[in-house]
Amino acid sequence: MLWMIFVPAHKSAGCVIVNEISNVVNYRMGDIMKAAIYPGSFDPVTFGHLDIIRRAAEIFDELTVSVLNNKTKSPLFSVEERVKMLKEATKDMPNVVVDSFSGLLIDYAREKNVHVAIRGLRAITDFEYELQIAQTNRKFSGGDLDTMFLTTSLEYAYLSSSTVREFASFNGDISQCVPEFVAKLIYEKYGHVK
Ligand code: PNS
Repeated sequence: MLWMIFVPAHKSAGCVIVNEISNVVNYRMGDIMKAAIYPGSFDPVTFGHLDIIRRAAEIFDELTVSVLNNKTKSPLFSVEERVKMLKEATKDMPNVVVDSFSGLLIDYAREKNVHVAIRGLRAITDFEYELQIAQTNRKFSGGDLDTMFLTTSLEYAYLSSSTVREFASFNGDISQCVPEFVAKLIYEKYGHVK
């Protein structure tokens, strides 16, 4: 039997045609649960990331923070270490799930049935790169994956994982950049005992 229903779906089409009533229910269930993915390298997680995570988690019912397993990069922390750090740093946020993924974000998002990716924008220098990725992901997902940008809070606009790594490598003070337990782990990596 064919049903035509009108739903406030993530797609621009205002109606969907389904051939089973169970599909209607699934669709509606999927619609009620607003989920997003915040992908990134998080090498390491900074206060800037945590600010975006906290704010995105207030907007969505479930936020999956997912660490990219990029085999072409040589990160400071392994994927497992980064996942562990993120879990610890977000333990007071009940609707945040920490995961990892390899390959394309659009494939990962499709597997998880999530249609929104979150990214933080610090400055105009981020914009061109982020815009290109967002448009590519939207195009190649057939419109299934949109990107929502949150502007980084001003106090973290200067902050990046790479500057944190560089500062820490020279034993610089990173206490304003990352949680204390993360700072300790970074210094350990560079052989600085605190
Ligand atoms: O924290 P980063 O390194 O700026 O995050 C970049 C990330 C992980 C969001 C981006 O590189 C990504 O999504 N990579 C997965 C591979 C992919 O989907 N590439 C297509 C984008 S054009």
